[in-house]
Amino acid sequence: MRIAAISDIHRNKSLVKLFTDSPKCQDVDVLLICGDISNGNIPELEEILSSFSDFNGEKLFVTGNHDIWSNSEDANASMVKYEHDIPIACENAGFHCLDNSPKIIGDIGFVGNIGWYDYSFKVLCGSTSQPLHFSENRIVRRWEELNDDDYQQKMFLFMKDKSDPSTTFWGDKLYAKLGCSDKEFLERTLAKLKSDIEQINRYAKSIVAVTHHIPYEAIVPRRDDDVSYSLCNAYMGSKRIGELFDKYEKIRTVICGHSHTPGSFQINGKNCFNVSSENSYIKLIDIK
Ligand SMILES: [Fe+2]
Repeated sequence: MRIAAISDIHRNKSLVKLFTDSPKCQDVDVLLICGDISNGNIPELEEILSSFSDFNGEKLFVTGNHDIWSNSEDANASMVKYEHDIPIACENAGFHCLDNSPKIIGDIGFVGNIGWYDYSFKVLCGSTSQPLHFSENRIVRRWEELNDDDYQQKMFLFMKDKSDPSTTFWGDKLYAKLGCSDKEFLERTLAKLKSDIEQINRYAKSIVAVTHHIPYEAIVPRRDDDVSYSLCNAYMGSKRIGELFDKYEKIRTVICGHSHTPGSFQINGKNCFNVSSENSYIKLIDIK
């Protein structure tokens, strides 16, 4: 089985054409999109998914954090998109939404969902040239002192140098309206992943596990010279996703996106791929 995996299109419709026009994508069995194709505009998400309609193989989708963004005042608006609007848009466009339910194709099982983050990939010790950071309430903290409440706030003040205060924030702060904390949402997505794996584990020969967020430390890109980048590491994913996958021998392939840093990795006996990129990028993955 050949999978073509794409992630983080971020409304760039030229990637659709790249896929439909590419000769190397002609003998693909499964098209897998790992999220962040939109900015939370559901009709546009459906339109982008629909533009793959010429592809006759199986089409799978996993939601990204940008896909649930909302400008609404409703504190649960993103959760409504996640649980209701996006699965319907996928169905309308001929995609199976893995966030909703797993799928077995041939004898290969597919499970997946958005994942989320619990700050377990946070930087524990910042670069020595920028040792001090200021949380939103202007309390000076060292990297190792930044706590879960600071990360839940997702807004940081910090000193680029001694006279240059800067701010950085993670976009989910303004637009991901989940009605619960990051850790609570992760608990929900982990529980769903576990029940979906259990549902197909007996029937599938092997399982491909997919999350938008990153499941393993080794896949998290690090740039110690950039404070903003280092702060964002906390929002890349969670070690607990990988720990869940490691409990299942049949999960032999793991695919994620989100960081815009593609790569292939061997982790705990599993073939792992980050298929997100700043540029147009389609990863072909063969499953035996
Ligand atoms: Fe993302």
